[in-house]
Amino acid sequence: MNSSDRADAHPGIRSQRFRVTIEACDESFDCNAGEDVLSAMRNSLCRQIPVGCCNGGCGACRISISSGTYTTRKMSRAVISESDEAARCVLACRTVPLSDLQVRVLGRMWPPPTAATTVSSDGAVATAQAETKAKRRV
Ligand code: FES
Repeated sequence: MNSSDRADAHPGIRSQRFRVTIEACDESFDCNAGEDVLSAMRNSLCRQIPVGCCNGGCGACRISISSGTYTTRKMSRAVISESDEAARCVLACRTVPLSDLQVRVLGRMWPPPTAATTVSSDGAVATAQAETKAKRRV
C-alpha cells in the first residue's frame, strides 16, 4: 500500500470499524473507517502508543504493522524512510486501517497493564481490567 492511497478511495468501508491490537500487551481498541490509528487510540482508554505532534512529523508514534491492510497519509521522510515504509513501519497518526490490524509499538511503551485490556470505541472496558482495578481497591 503506498501513501497515495486514501481511505477516501474506499467509500464502501465508511461505516465499518476495525480492531487494532497492540502486541506485547494484548491491548486493543476500535478504529472507525477513515480514522487514523493514533486518534482512535486516544479516543479509547488505551495509551500504549506514544503521542507527539499528531501530524506525521516527530516520529513518536512509530509502529510496525504485523498483520492487516492499511493506507497511510503523508509522513515525514525524516522519521519514516522508504525502506521503513516498505517494511511496514509507519506512523500511527498517519495510518488508516482497511482491516483489523496487529501492531507493534517501536517507541517507548507505557507500563504494560496488569491484565489484558479491551476497549471499544464507545469506551467500554473489558472485564479483565475492571476486575484488576476492583482488586486494587480492596
Ligand atoms: S505523533 Fe508525531 S509523527 Fe505521529
